[in-house]
Amino acid sequence: MTFGHGCPIVHFDPFGNDYLADPYAFYQWAQQQQPIFYSDTLKYWVLTRYDDIKGALKDAETFSSRNATDPFTPVTPTTAAVFRDGGYAMQRVLLNADAPNHTRIRRHVYAAFTPQRVAALEERIRECTRTHLAAITANPQRRIDIVAALTYTLPAQVIFMLLGLDDDDVPAIKAGSESRVLFTWGKPSDAQQADLARDMVDFWQRAQAFVAKRASAPRDDFTSDLIRLRNGDDSILSMNEIVSVVFGLLLAGHETTTGLLSNAIRRLLEDPQRWQQAHQHPDQLSAIIEEILRFDTSVIAMRRLTTREVTIAGHTIPSDANVLLLIGGANHDQTHFADAATYDPQRPNNREHLSFGFGSHYCIGAPLARLEARVVLNELITALPTAQLAADQTYDYLPNTSFRGPRQLWITW
Ligand code: HEM
Repeated sequence: MTFGHGCPIVHFDPFGNDYLADPYAFYQWAQQQQPIFYSDTLKYWVLTRYDDIKGALKDAETFSSRNATDPFTPVTPTTAAVFRDGGYAMQRVLLNADAPNHTRIRRHVYAAFTPQRVAALEERIRECTRTHLAAITANPQRRIDIVAALTYTLPAQVIFMLLGLDDDDVPAIKAGSESRVLFTWGKPSDAQQADLARDMVDFWQRAQAFVAKRASAPRDDFTSDLIRLRNGDDSILSMNEIVSVVFGLLLAGHETTTGLLSNAIRRLLEDPQRWQQAHQHPDQLSAIIEEILRFDTSVIAMRRLTTREVTIAGHTIPSDANVLLLIGGANHDQTHFADAATYDPQRPNNREHLSFGFGSHYCIGAPLARLEARVVLNELITALPTAQLAADQTYDYLPNTSFRGPRQLWITW
C-alpha cells in the first residue's frame, strides 16, 4: 500500500503490548522493510534510521518542534473546559518551541542551569541514594521492587533539589507527570482524557504556586536564579514562561531518569557478568551508562512538524505533516552501530547515540542525567553486589510513544 507521494503505509501501534514490551524487534523489521513509512493509526510519518533522524534533528527550520507536546487524541470540549477553568496556561518555552522564542528562553535556562549547580548535587545525590539503600538492604526478604524502592522517587528528589522544591510534593508531582505522559504521549479515551487534564491542572497550579513562592522569597536555587535573571523584564522572561519552564522540568527532569535507571538495572542484571563487571570496574561506569543509553534508552521517540515539503531517501513528506522520530531505532541502526542488538560498553562509538537528541533542542539535563546514573548505579552495585533479577517476571510499560522504563522491577540478593 502506498500513500500520497509513494510513502508506504504501515500499521504501527506504539500503544500495543508487543511494541511496548520490545520496540526493538519492530525497529529491526522497519529498518529492513520500510525505514520511512506513514502510520495510518497515528497519522504520522515515521523515521526509523539513524541518518534520517539525525538529519531531521539538525534541520530545525524544516522540522519544527511545535507539535512536540500535542496530544495524539484531539482535545474534547470537556477537557478544554477543565483546562480553562483551572487556569492552565502552559506556554511554548523549550521542547515545543521554535526560534526565536526558543533561542531566547533556552539561553536564559542555560545561564541558570550551570555546571556548578549540577556538580554541587553530586554529594546530595549520593546521600539521598544511601538513605534509600539503607531501607532496601534492611529488607528481611532480600526481595524488592527497585522501582518503588529507589528509581521512581529518587530522580524527582534530585530535580527538586535543583529547582528548590520541598520533598513533600514528590508523590503529587510524580502522579501529575504520569498523567501528563498519558495525556500527551498516550492514547486515552475521552473520559480518561478529562481526568488526566484535571491532574495536569493540579500539577500546573503546584508549579505556579511554587514559582510565586520563590518570587517572594528567593533562595539559592535554579528557579530563584531564573527570577533574578528576569529582573522584572518580560522581554527577558515572563513569569508565566518561568512557570512553564519549571512545569516542563518537573517532568523532563525525572520521568526520563527514572526510566534510564530502571532500564540500566534491568539490562545489567540480565547477564550477571555485566553487573560483576560494573562492580569490579567502577571506572568503566561512564562507558556502561553510554551503552545503556544507546541499548535501551528511556526516551524512544520525539516529534516534529514539517514547515515545507521535504524529500528523504526518495520519500516526499508534505508540508505541515506530523513526523515521529524513533530515537530507539536510530540507536539500534546496524549501519551506524555494528552488531547493534548486542550490549557492548567497549564499542568505540557508543556516545554517538541520539538518546539526548541533537542540535538546537539537545537535552539540557544530559550532564545531570549522566551524573545521577553514575552515582546511583555505583552506590547500588556496591551495596548489592550479589543482586539478581527475580525469576518469572514480565515487564509492564506506561502505554505511550516516548517514555520507556519498566513500572516494576523485582530484584533479589
Ligand atoms: C536519561 C535521561 C534523559 C533523556 C534520555 C533525555 C532525553 C531528551 C531528548 C531526546 C531531548 C530532545 C528533545 C527534542 O529534540 O525534541 C531532551 C530535551 C530536553 N531535556 Fe532531556 N533527557 C533526560 C534527562 C533530562 C533531565 C534530567 C532534564 C532536566 C534536569 C532534562 C531536560 C530537558 C529539557 C529542558 C529539554 C528541552 C530542550 C530544548 O527543547 O531546548 N532532560 N531530553
